[in-house]
Amino acid sequence: MSGPVDAIVTGVGAYLPANAVSNSDLEMRVETSDAWIQARTGIRQRHVAADGELTSDLALAAARAALTDAGVDGAELDLIVLATTTPDSTFPATATKVQAALGMTQGAAFDVQAVCAGFIYAVSVAANALAAGQAAKALVIGAETFTRLLDWNDRSTCVLFGDGAGAILLEGRPSNGADRTGVLSSHLHSDGRYYDLLYVDGGPSSTGTTGHVRMQGPEVFKHAVNKLSDAVREALAANDLESGDVDWFVPHQANKRIIDGTAKKLGIDPGRVILTVDRHANTSAASIPLALHQGVADGRIKKGDLVVLEAIGGGLSWGASVIRW
Ligand code: ACO
Repeated sequence: MSGPVDAIVTGVGAYLPANAVSNSDLEMRVETSDAWIQARTGIRQRHVAADGELTSDLALAAARAALTDAGVDGAELDLIVLATTTPDSTFPATATKVQAALGMTQGAAFDVQAVCAGFIYAVSVAANALAAGQAAKALVIGAETFTRLLDWNDRSTCVLFGDGAGAILLEGRPSNGADRTGVLSSHLHSDGRYYDLLYVDGGPSSTGTTGHVRMQGPEVFKHAVNKLSDAVREALAANDLESGDVDWFVPHQANKRIIDGTAKKLGIDPGRVILTVDRHANTSAASIPLALHQGVADGRIKKGDLVVLEAIGGGLSWGASVIRW
């Protein structure tokens, strides 16, 4: 394809493990309460992958659903970008397992690691590849078995997270220039000075173990609302748009208070916010595509709508994307 290219969304898919764990179930494991979790986070339940169910299994289920939605065969793909913090193995990339299972033998498949911001990073990488003519059909997946990183004795973190996967198919189409559709732009940021606020205390090069999530929750919270609202403002301004133009705000689903605070700061109507944190908890890189799938499946997100995505996570890493659906 020569000339400018739009990276348009042609399919969306999602997968959640069958086992839903309620806050009351967690009361049996750590000293916590349904009331505390709901009041501080908005979370009511989370899904937890079964023993032997891997990130690649979740990713594959979401990928197949997105391909079916688009009417595209896996063999037609020429790019898979999979955002995950919980790969099946240290290497190779989990994306290559998905690639093989989909019957895709051309192009490239690789993982992107930006923790909870991973899906924004993956959308950016895939849309840029389409715009550069490096690929024509790109599957962007966010998939996590994040509960495997939890210290189940640490109540300040173990109640917050869940497992799941979501995927979107991006296809390159000739752009008519003025009236662009698809991914309009993505805006990525990181600041490694904040490493200590949210990290895993293990890794192949440091301890040789997988490690567990460690977090200074209130500090992360403070950074989240400011950095997310700044990133969304930057993304809207880059496209000559304002918050009043946003049809659907699809934030990373970490905590309802962060989402409410960010939407309020941006002046986005609460009725325009897609929320899944109550049922999914924080699924890290999977949370945005899971929420996108919810919004499309229930008929809220429609063709032509302006959709804004944002996320922040360990690093700190954060960003925002603007999509004309
Ligand atoms: N159940 C009951 N009590 C708890 C629990 C729990 N699960 N966890 C902590 N507490 C207690 C604390 O021990 C503390 O008790 P104390 O006052 O006796 O010392 C009290 O509750 C208040 O603790 P805080 O940490 O100050 O509670 P806060 O209101 O800040 O809420 C939370 C904690 C929910 C983690 C919040 O800070 C938060 O959401 N931060 C953002 C972090 C986040 O979402 N991270 C996800 C990854 S990054 C991202 O995706 C954005």
